[in-house]
Amino acid sequence: MTDLKVKSDLMEKIVSLCKRRGFIYPGSEIYGGIQGFYDYGPLGVELKNNIKKEWWKSMVYDREDVVGIDTAIIMNPVVWEKSGHLESFTDPLVECKACHKRFRKDEFEEFFKHVPKGVGAVAPKFGAEMFFCSDGKKHKFEDLTEPRVFNLLTEVYLGVTEPKEKAYLRGEVTQGVFVNFKNILNSTSVKIPFGVAQIGKAFRNEITPGKFTYRTREFEQMELEFFIKPEDKEAKKWFEYWKKQRLDWYLNLGMKKENLRFREHGPDELAHYCRVAEDVEYKAPFGWSEFEGIHDRGDWDLSRHNLKYQDEEEKKEYTPWVIETSGGVDRTALFFLINAFHEEKDRVVLKLAPKLAPYKVAVFPLLANKPELVKKARLVFDKLRPVFRTAWDDRGNIGKRYYAQDEIGTPWCVTIDFQTLEDKTVTIRDRDTTKQKRVKVDKLIKWFQNGLSK
Ligand code: GAP
Repeated sequence: MTDLKVKSDLMEKIVSLCKRRGFIYPGSEIYGGIQGFYDYGPLGVELKNNIKKEWWKSMVYDREDVVGIDTAIIMNPVVWEKSGHLESFTDPLVECKACHKRFRKDEFEEFFKHVPKGVGAVAPKFGAEMFFCSDGKKHKFEDLTEPRVFNLLTEVYLGVTEPKEKAYLRGEVTQGVFVNFKNILNSTSVKIPFGVAQIGKAFRNEITPGKFTYRTREFEQMELEFFIKPEDKEAKKWFEYWKKQRLDWYLNLGMKKENLRFREHGPDELAHYCRVAEDVEYKAPFGWSEFEGIHDRGDWDLSRHNLKYQDEEEKKEYTPWVIETSGGVDRTALFFLINAFHEEKDRVVLKLAPKLAPYKVAVFPLLANKPELVKKARLVFDKLRPVFRTAWDDRGNIGKRYYAQDEIGTPWCVTIDFQTLEDKTVTIRDRDTTKQKRVKVDKLIKWFQNGLSK
């Protein structure tokens, strides 16, 4: 089997697991779906919330120099004019003259640069649409139209009387921070250097949504805008500082080092607001792929919005520069899932960091038809449930229950057996090693808290 086929199979397995176990569903599925939109199920919402919680903790709670904010999705359209998005937030689109499939020009070029010979034989699902024309032959550059430029902002119309007022769903959460720069200065005691963090939905009218949740039209971003003195030396220092912080965050949550890298943007790739940009990329089954950007935005935004800072220590007014870290929650969740996915002998196991796992613990009575075991197990379940997200399972045999929890990444399973009734101990089975240990019921909360603090 070719390497490409293995990778394509891996993506299919992830997509299937996500749907089967309630992580991610196709959007509006009962009406045939809608391209570029996904819904998160009961486990997916927990995973995403855990990612956001860990991000917020490290970016806001663990620091003195960052405050949080939550701004509106729809802003005065002038914001997007000033920020340059109306003019420059575009992608070049090319269309196949024969089958009328549309692609982003840069993606098309990148794809064919890397497609190995003979890929037609394996027809990888995540790329096949770009590879094949409707006549079954390989797409060629000569088949394509000249590139046309499309704006990515999603339009909305407000009000009830005609003509309705045109506005935009935000294309990046960032601008909400800049337009509140003065409010934040006036209502808090922040002093440069300081940051403002925000997590929220963003929308882009993507030409080619695809690769599961990798490129969607609605997604969530977690962003920090870090305001610094307008000096090259400061910009370089903070840029490197934030690169390291963000890389360490992913590593500490279990992403494998060999699957992460930084990639600097060339001058022709830089977004209109960027002086310097480096992507954090993950080695996904569909190739190295960006899921966070570290950006030096200079004074682009604050000067466009005509906003300044009065430095009381230096007794002067200036326009601060901004170092931004901009991560996508959905891509991060997808890559944590891919990173965690393991097939071992007869089991599939998601080796998610316990902090990210949707359920931390699952509780089982050894036998569902023994009321004394079920009663005791319910007591343990009720004790753990308010402290940790805890699952209950009394179906099938114990082996099947372990495998069902492995597949969704639950780090620990607690079984109540006959010995529990005698000495008040239970078994804790570890997801990764499958080893079991007996622990006193009244030590359980401490035990799991300890496991989660690592
Ligand atoms: N404020 C800067 C900014 O928005 P970006 O590189 O355009 O920068 C940052 O986006 C992150 O947002 C990306 O690294 C990615 O994780 C996420 N993102 C962007 N477009 C996306 C899309 N269409 N679908 C899913 N995530 C997306």
